[in-house]
Formats: sequence, C-alpha cells, structure tokens
Amino acid sequence: MAAAAVALERMEAGARLPDALVQVLDQWALPTDSHAPVRDMAYSSVRRLGTARAILTQLAQRPIAAPLAAILHTALVQLLDPVRPLAIIVDQAVAAVRGTARNPRQAASEAGFANAILRRFLRERETCLTALQQASAARQTDPDWPSWWVAELRKDHPGHWPEVLGVGTQTPPLTLRVDCSQTTPAAYLGVLAAHGIAAVQVGPQAIRLERGCPVAMIPGFDQGLVSVQDAGAQLAAPLLGVESGHRVLDACAAPGGKTVHLLELFEAGRTEVELVALDVDEQRLQRVRDNVERSGFALVGAERLGTPQVARKRRSTAVPVRMLTADAMHPESWWDGRAFDRILLDAPCTASGIVRRHPEIRWLRRRGDLATLAATQRGLLDALWPLLAPGGRLLYVTCSIFRTENEAVVGAFVDATADCRRLALHWSFTPADAPESVAQLLPVASPTRDHDGFFYALLERDFAIPRVQKTLCAPVVDRTFAGAGAGMLGLD
Ligand SMILES: C[S@@+](CC[C@H](N)C(=O)[O-])C[C@H]1O[C@@H](n2cnc3c(N)ncnc32)[C@H](O)[C@@H]1O
Repeated sequence: MAAAAVALERMEAGARLPDALVQVLDQWALPTDSHAPVRDMAYSSVRRLGTARAILTQLAQRPIAAPLAAILHTALVQLLDPVRPLAIIVDQAVAAVRGTARNPRQAASEAGFANAILRRFLRERETCLTALQQASAARQTDPDWPSWWVAELRKDHPGHWPEVLGVGTQTPPLTLRVDCSQTTPAAYLGVLAAHGIAAVQVGPQAIRLERGCPVAMIPGFDQGLVSVQDAGAQLAAPLLGVESGHRVLDACAAPGGKTVHLLELFEAGRTEVELVALDVDEQRLQRVRDNVERSGFALVGAERLGTPQVARKRRSTAVPVRMLTADAMHPESWWDGRAFDRILLDAPCTASGIVRRHPEIRWLRRRGDLATLAATQRGLLDALWPLLAPGGRLLYVTCSIFRTENEAVVGAFVDATADCRRLALHWSFTPADAPESVAQLLPVASPTRDHDGFFYALLERDFAIPRVQKTLCAPVVDRTFAGAGAGMLGLD
C-alpha cells in the first residue's frame, strides 16, 4: 500500500502513472510477485481519486501533507470496493503510515490520525457517500473526473456522457489482435480454449480475454501470432484501404501498433507496397522497431547509414519500410518529393478515449490542452496534405472523444481545402452486424462489444482541383474563368 501511495503521490505531482510505478518498484526493490498488486492498487486509486479526496476533505477538515494524504486516498479507495477484510485494509494503511514517517514521533501521531479517519469512514460510510452523491447530482458532475472534462463531454455527447464516464472508470480488458496473415480468430479462439483461457471475439480480428494475464502467458504472443490492441484501434489499418503499388506514409507511427497491423494486412493480401513510418520521438520510434520484430518481421538494412530498412516476413516477399525520426509538421526536412497514395495520420491528442487504460490522463490534462492540440492537429493536416497524390487518401485518427480535436478540426480543414472531400466510413464489429457508419466511436464495454473511444475521418484528394482556399475558389472560377476546368487554372 505504501508503494502504491508513493506512485499516486508522484502522479499527482505530474508524473505518468506507468513511469511512477516503474520508479517505485525499482527503488523499493519489491519482490516480483508484489508488482501486480501494487500496480492494481495504484491504478484503482487513480480511478477513484476524486471520490477519495472528497471523503478525506469531509472527514479531516484540515490540510494533510501529501505523503499521508496519498496513503489515506489509497486506503479509502480500497475501503470503497473492498476485496480484503476491512480491518486488514485499515491495519495495512496504518503500517504504511508508520513505515514512511520520518521519525518515531511523527509515526505515532500520523498513524493515530490515519486510524481514526479510516475507522470514522467505516462508521459514517453511508452518510458520507450519500452527501457526495447528492452534491454531484446537484452540479451534474462526477467527483472522479475534473469538472471541465465532464462539461466538455456533456456539451459534445449530451445523450451519452454518463455511460462514457462509467466506461472510463472501469478496469480495461486485455484485447488482442489476431495476425490474419498467420491464423484466423476462430482458430486462435480454439488455441485459447485449449489453454483454458476464456475469450470472446469483439471485432473482425479482435479477441477480448475474460481475465487479464501477463503477455508471456498468451499463446503465440512471442511469435507475433497476436498483438495487444484495443478493438477500436483495429479499424485504422483496414480503413486506410491500401492497394498493391501504393506508397504509404504512417506519419505518427510510434509505438507501432498500427504499423504492424498494416504489415500483417499487406502480408495477408500479398499487397506490394512501400511504407514510410515516421515519428518525431527517436525513443518511441525504437518501440516501433521492437514491435515490428516481435511480430515476426525481420528488420534488414544499415539504418545508421541512412539507408532504408526492409521488413521481411518469414514466409513472403519483402516490404520496403523506411523508418524515420522526423517531424511530420516539416516535410521539407525529410520528404523526397514522391507523393503518397495513402497517409495514416494518427495524431497526438488528449487521449481522452483511452482513459480507462490510462486513468491518470484526466488528472494530468488541462482544459487549455484542447486548443493547443487542435492547433497541432490542424498543422499536421496542413503539412501532410500536399504530400498526397491526386486521388490519394488520408485517414485522420485520434483516440479522443472531444469534438474540438475531431469533427471541429476535420470540418474546418475540409471547408478550407478545395481539393479535399470527406468519404463515408463503415465498419462491422462482428460478421453478424450490418456495417455501421463510423466517425466518432464512443467507448463501450458490453459482453459482446468492447472498445475504447476513437475518431476516424477519411479524406480524399481530388484529381482536378488545385490546392486553393475554398472561399476563394468559387468567385475566381465563376468570374474570370467561366467554362474552364478548375484543374487547368493553375491556382495554388
Ligand atoms: C497517438 S500516438 C501514435 C500511435 C501509433 N500510431 C500506434 O498505433 O501505435 C502519436 C504519436 O505521434 C508522434 N508525434 C507527435 N508529433 C509529431 C510530429 N510533429 N511528427 C511526427 N510524429 C509526431 C508522437 O511521438 C506519438 O508517438
């Protein structure tokens, strides 16, 4: 409990939770079998942090130093949804307070205080929680989410925001993507059953395990038979619609989940393409290489000398893949001038759609990030659009559920870009479902349907119309060049 509380305290000070946990587990040299319980406790504390804070404020009525508050928050979350006897949780919290105090005097006074607070919560639990629920209902908010976050959701998704928050507070499932160049979901479900692992299909290639487990225990994981990827993220590679002969840009590639999915689809369809995978962050690009290799593709070529790498699958022809650490916002520094037929722009975003997997996001993001990120997303669209061949397509993706980063960015870009039109997208999560229209996918967690929140928009570059401001295009064409094909105007 003490280790989980330190990770929570570091997250509250601005650290990413996975980073804080790695540091704590490393510094404290805890035995390996305690890592998973520490992680679980830290993650559930972050999910219910707002409730724990509100309870502590009600009960303590005085400021509390951050290390003690973090232990009390952790213990209160455990008491809210207990998986162990209540008395053991209180005893562990008191022991954690004693163990982390600076001196015996502080240990005695803080341990007594912690004991009194937690026992009072157990006595007054119903009153305390009822008061909290009434306050939240009156303000149409939820203590476990920042108020600006709830306000954005209520504005953007008035009919769905309570369910979206509910899914965001749940523990995420472990979802796999089956490599369709090696096996089928039905065959892989059979493999799982033979290993006694219960699972259900939640997408054309997506299988959700009924219980989480270390990846080392997943059959075929090390051979790349399956990769870990949410069912909502699995739409990107197929929706890009790559065909033989295409030149493809994966513009924000790291850590490479969608890059590997593309390579698997190329392999399965014998699609001969050329792929450029780009990320501005060299360390994160290394994770793309690691993922590509783990999935059974061999990297060949002297990248350090600047020559292209080649990813070659065990059984098939080579797929030339060039991996570049470069800024997509500035193609002049890396683009060779040859147009792309397909661009996947998986843009940096608030990640508000994947908050059940990264619960700290809600506490680390600020409302002002929305405008900053929307400007970056628009900048990336503006920078990459000229790299697209006429007739080429760009798939804009975010793992956000905020309109500001999705419909608003794409809508403004389409309106301002003469040679751009948005195409309809459709998807069936299971073969039994009729194809449904896809744009903003809201997170959902039901027995048969389970995915995070994503946004997809497919934009096609017209053949004929040169790149001009749409607002300028119509009057210029009507007045000066009536009858001339817009493509012959040479406007740019
Ligand atoms: C949402 S993640 C991409 C996830 C990835 N497509 C996948 O499926 O695993 C966004 C990525 O964009 C990268 N990025 C942000 N700004 C960039 C830029 N200007 N140029 C290239 N990459 C950028 C980040 O480093 C980050 O790895």
